Amino acid sequence: MIRVLFVCLGNICRSPMAEALFAHKVREAGLSEKITADSAGTADYHTGSPPHRGTIAELERHDISWDHRARPVRRQDATEFDYLLAMDELNLADLNGIKPRRAVLSKMMEYASEKGYEDVPDPYYTGEFDLVYELLDAATAGLLSDIREEHGL
Ligand code: 4NP
Repeated sequence: MIRVLFVCLGNICRSPMAEALFAHKVREAGLSEKITADSAGTADYHTGSPPHRGTIAELERHDISWDHRARPVRRQDATEFDYLLAMDELNLADLNGIKPRRAVLSKMMEYASEKGYEDVPDPYYTGEFDLVYELLDAATAGLLSDIREEHGL
């Protein structure tokens, strides 16, 4: 099984949206037996909460199902996951702190560089959930095609 973890700060806006979008694409590709997705936050302010209403609204508008409650990043995530995807530079720095050695550690927008964003802007502050959806839709597609190529799927 290939395990993918999406990481942001609060685990209620960006990373649960990325998780739901990626899991949807994995299901559409018939790869649910080979690839799993989860998400987590570098802060624990929202542990146990469902995604932000802006994230839920965007997912529901596009008929993407979701099933997540916020949780903080754990030290063992560094060894249990094969891919760790940070939404921004701060998340990346925090993930480097748990010292993943084997996992691929990258920023999400590296998988959709054509969009011209290095970081996924935080809609908790900007309110731009529609922009975040567009960026994450492109980046999760790029990530899945990268993983398929890498693992011959
Ligand atoms: P996220 O957004 O990292 O995309 O889930 C945030 C959610 C909550 C907070 C900050 C960012 N907060 O400060 O509570």
